Amino acid sequence: MKTKRLNSFFLIVLIILLVACTTEKKQTSYNEKYRPQFHFSPPGNWMNDPNGLVYYKGEYHFFYQYYPDSTVWGPMHWGHAVSNDLVHWDNLPVALYPDSLGYIFSGSAVIDWNNTSGLKQGNEPPIVAIFTHHSPTILEKKTNDHEYQSIAFSNDKGRTFIKYDGNPVIPNKLKEADFRDPKVSWNDSLEKWVVVLAAGQKVEFFSSPDLKNWEYMSEFGTGAGAHEGVWECPDFFKLKIQGEEKWVLIVNMNPGCPNGGSGTQYFIGQFNGKEFINDNPKETTLWLDYGPDNYAGVTWSDIPKEDGRRILIGWMSNWAYAQVTPTAEWRSSNTIPRVLELKSTPAGLRLSANPVKEIEKLRAASSVIKLTAGSEVKITGLNEFEMSKNLAETDTEEFGFIFSNSKGEQLIAGYNRQLNQFYTDRSKSGKTDFSPEFAKIHYAPRISQDSVLSLNLFLDHSSIEIFADGGLSVMTEIFFPSEIFDRVTFFQKGGTAVNQECTIYDLNSIWP
Ligand code: FRU
Repeated sequence: MKTKRLNSFFLIVLIILLVACTTEKKQTSYNEKYRPQFHFSPPGNWMNDPNGLVYYKGEYHFFYQYYPDSTVWGPMHWGHAVSNDLVHWDNLPVALYPDSLGYIFSGSAVIDWNNTSGLKQGNEPPIVAIFTHHSPTILEKKTNDHEYQSIAFSNDKGRTFIKYDGNPVIPNKLKEADFRDPKVSWNDSLEKWVVVLAAGQKVEFFSSPDLKNWEYMSEFGTGAGAHEGVWECPDFFKLKIQGEEKWVLIVNMNPGCPNGGSGTQYFIGQFNGKEFINDNPKETTLWLDYGPDNYAGVTWSDIPKEDGRRILIGWMSNWAYAQVTPTAEWRSSNTIPRVLELKSTPAGLRLSANPVKEIEKLRAASSVIKLTAGSEVKITGLNEFEMSKNLAETDTEEFGFIFSNSKGEQLIAGYNRQLNQFYTDRSKSGKTDFSPEFAKIHYAPRISQDSVLSLNLFLDHSSIEIFADGGLSVMTEIFFPSEIFDRVTFFQKGGTAVNQECTIYDLNSIWP
C-alpha cells in the first residue's frame, strides 16, 4: 500500500516537472510586438554578441552572450541555438554559466579534429570553446587583471560543455584592463592553433599546440585604423582573390563609429607566421557595414572545404541604445548570416557582404512591379526587394524607397547622386524617443563605380538590411514602428522621372 502511494507521488511529481518543462519551452510565441520574423532573437531576455560559431555534422552552432534573467545586460552566460540551414533555428539550453572565475564573456569554438587537446572522450572529436572569464570580484579590486581566457569542451556535439580544470589558459600577465574575446583557428603553416584577442586599442596574437598552453606572438593596431573606442571581438581568416591569399582581420569597435556608437572595421594584409602586416597605409579605415546596427560580427569556424564560404553574423544592435530599445520580453536580434568575399575596386581590395543563399528558401510569392514615383504598393512587411538602375541612363539626383504604415511612420532608404552616398532616415520610424542617439539619418559611401547600381533590401518587422552593389556598401538598421511597415513608395528627386522596375518577394517567417 505504502509503495503504491509512493509511486503515485512520484508520478505526480513527474507530471508537474514535464508540464513545467513544456511551459518553459513555450515561453515565447515569437509573435510579440517588434519580434523579428526571419532573424534569430533569443527566446526571452537579453542577448548581445554572437559567440562560439562552429559547424559540425550538419549543424551550425550559434552561441551568444546571454543574460537569461533580465532584458538588460548582466552576468553573462552563453546561450545556444543550432540550425541546419543558417535560416531556421532551434533553441537549446544555456551552454555555459558564470562560475567562480567570472562571467562568460565572448569567445569562439573549434572542432579539435586531431584531439590535440587530449580532451576527447568517446567517438566525437571535442568541440573546444575558448572564451573570456570576466571577474566582477577582481574588477572591484581595480587591479586590472579581471579578464583572462579559459576553455570548455563538449564531447556530445555541443549539447553539454565541461569547463577545463586548468583554467584560465591565457592569464592576464600584463594586467590589461580590456583583454578579451579570443577567436581561435587552426593555422596550417604553423601547425598550431592561433588566437587573436582584443587588448584595449590593439589586438594580440597567441599560438598553441594543444589549446591549453598558449604563447604570446605579437600585437597589431597601434595607430592603424579607427581608435575612437575600445577594440573588441576580433576575427582573423584567409580569403582568396584571383588566386591570391590575403588575411583579413576584423575588429569591432565601441564607440566612435562613422554613424555613431559601435561598429566593425577590418584590415587586409599578410600573416608571416608571427605578425599581421597591414597592406594599407595606417590611416586607411575600412568599415564592414555603415548602418548603426551590426556589431560584434564574427565568422563560423569549420565550414566544410567543399562549401568554402566565410560566413559572418552580427548582433543587430548598438551599445549606444541596445539596453533601452522598446521590446518587452526579449532584447535584440542578429543580422542575416552573410558571406564575406574580397572584391577588387578602384579604391583597392574591399570586403563585400551578402546574405547567405539559403535565405532564398523563405521566398514565397514574388512580383515584378513598375514603380512610378510617388505610387504606393502594399507589402506584407516581411519582404525582399531587388532593383538596379543604370545611372548612365538617368539624370535622377536622388531615389529610393519609403516604407510606411497607416500611422504615417516611415523609414527611408535611398541613394543621393551628388553625395554619392546611400542613406537611411529612421527619424520618423515610430518609437524613437528611448535614446537621443536613435532618430538619425545615416550615410554609407558608394564604393562601386559601375554605372549600374544594384540594391537588395531585406525588410523584417523591426529591421532593414541594405546590400548595395553586390554587398560593397552595406547598411543595417533597426526601428520600432507602432504597426509594421505594410506599404512601400518609390521616390525620385530631380531629373526626369522614370518608372522603376523592382522585384518584390514576400518572405515567410522562420518561426512556427
Ligand atoms: C562586445 C562585448 C565584448 C564582451 C561582451 C560582454 O559587445 O563588450 O567585448 O566580451 O560584449 O558581454
